[in-house]
Amino acid sequence: MSRPVDARIDIRIADITTLAVDMIVNAANPSLLGGGGVDGAIHHAAGPSLLEACRKLGGCRTGEAKLTGGFDLPARYVCHTVGPVWHGGGRGEDEALAACYRSSLQCAAEKECETVAFPAISTGVYGFPPARAARIAVREARAFLENHPRPAQIIFCCFSQASADHHLDAMDT
Ligand code: APR
Repeated sequence: MSRPVDARIDIRIADITTLAVDMIVNAANPSLLGGGGVDGAIHHAAGPSLLEACRKLGGCRTGEAKLTGGFDLPARYVCHTVGPVWHGGGRGEDEALAACYRSSLQCAAEKECETVAFPAISTGVYGFPPARAARIAVREARAFLENHPRPAQIIFCCFSQASADHHLDAMDT
């Protein structure tokens, strides 16, 4: 059963570095000095100025988020957040992932972003089960949008049909 806020949630299959949105979220690591996956793609597309900006941030703790400009990206801002590494679910991974979505959405609201795009945080190298992660992402997005006019739209930018399907299934709950 869809809810009024669901009209503000969009699920797409795309390379997040191509999205001309106000903010894209990066699934970073605590150093904020780049890596592989979506982190590597964002740094590659943004250019060296992004790494220079990240060096000044002093790292980031799991569940927290830090903001930089988008530099050569079509997105205006990059919100760097650090997801939990999956260890089986008994070490607070669900709550840490939820905190990543909340912290990033708070960043977007503070910058009065119209649109913010998320990758499927922690579901790659960090091994978080993708269906479980998608349920957390949708739950946190709905909860935030119910209480905030900004961002006007959240895009779940999935990198595969399987990832998109997990988010679509989560929207049906
Ligand atoms: N656009 C959108 N999504 C992408 C892109 C892209 N260009 N590239 C990868 N993804 C997807 C992956 O398919 C996965 O669904 O992003 C999701 C997150 O995967 P990772 O990038 O591996 O991130 P994560 O699992 O959070 O691991 C973070 O990996 O790259 C390193 O520095 C990073 O140490 C950190 C760790």
